[in-house]
Amino acid sequence: MHAVVLVGGFGTRLRPLTYSIPKPLLPVAHTSMLERLMNSLALGGVTHAVLALGFKPEPFMAAFPNDMCGSVQLSYAVEDTPLDTAGAIGFAARTAGIGETFVVANGDVLTDLDIASLISFHRQHGAEGTISLTPVSDPSQYGIVEIDASGRVERFVEKPQPGMTTSNFASAGTYVLEPSALVRMPGDQKLSIERVVFPQMVADGSLFAMSTDDYWIDAGRPDTFISANVHVSKRAAKATDAPIHPTATVAETAEILDSVIGENATVLDGARIQHSVLLPGAIVEQGAVIIDSLVMGRVGTNSQVTGSIIGSTGVVGQNEMCNNASVPAHDPALQQE
Ligand code: GDD
Ligand code: MG
Repeated sequence: MHAVVLVGGFGTRLRPLTYSIPKPLLPVAHTSMLERLMNSLALGGVTHAVLALGFKPEPFMAAFPNDMCGSVQLSYAVEDTPLDTAGAIGFAARTAGIGETFVVANGDVLTDLDIASLISFHRQHGAEGTISLTPVSDPSQYGIVEIDASGRVERFVEKPQPGMTTSNFASAGTYVLEPSALVRMPGDQKLSIERVVFPQMVADGSLFAMSTDDYWIDAGRPDTFISANVHVSKRAAKATDAPIHPTATVAETAEILDSVIGENATVLDGARIQHSVLLPGAIVEQGAVIIDSLVMGRVGTNSQVTGSIIGSTGVVGQNEMCNNASVPAHDPALQQE
């Protein structure tokens, strides 16, 4: 089975981390989101995945030097300009020569979904497309789906305003598509699957959806990226998921609460890390306190960082207070959207 994996977005909500590492390559409990997704696709029978790339393609190729991720063979489709979701799927599927039923996955989703059961649901319903659904508490952040008793999609509305729909079933960002759906996605211009293609398929009665209550999170926002890290490291299904990476240096007097400390990160005496993620190489000096934050750079002695993102070049000096900030601050020259 082939898959198209969408990994070409700018990762704006995780800036400035994504200035140095594209979102799908950021680690969740020490293993990149993309690797976790690939493992789950492989369990569902996927043997080849084409990465639909745009923004920063090189780190992806460098991350998989043999073009293999576990047992999945990788190939790449690099867009000259961002084609949006359906444009990217059309372009990538053509680049890889996909001509049979295939899977599509958003590259920032972490889930225990059994892809094989989604594929069999799709075949049983003779669908042109089948969307995996998950219940959410804040519909405004997702593509929201209304279905009938048979599982046929009656409405797909992307990021609805309050009152637009009563459904709280979100598209979980994993689909099964027939090759005929590619006719709707020429892949030569910008096109949104959520805003254009799915509504067309709904009108034709050919789109279905299957809901599950598996663990699911879109780790593409600061709060969900922290939650995903904490959840996976606490569950520690494998020893390598444990909260503190074996190469990290953590002083005995430091306090680590509901947090993940990445590869080669350093936490000095008396520091406290609470509900936060220290990315590989981060440094937190003596007595500093980090709460609800993501740190890739350095935080100086006795500083307090709350609800903030410190990028790879970010430095918080000594005795500073840093609340709800991005360090470095967003550079308008790098705003590409
Ligand atoms: N190749 C390519 N080109 N990929 C892209 C582009 C593009 O122009 N734009 C976005 N992507 C990729 C992103 O990298 C990401 O993996 C995926 O497409 C979805 O984009 P997000 O920016 O993460 O979208 P979202 O989280 O706001 O919403 C999407 O996911 C939700 C579930 O997590 C939508 O599909 C919603 O309907 C869905 O509910
Ligand atoms: Mg997302």
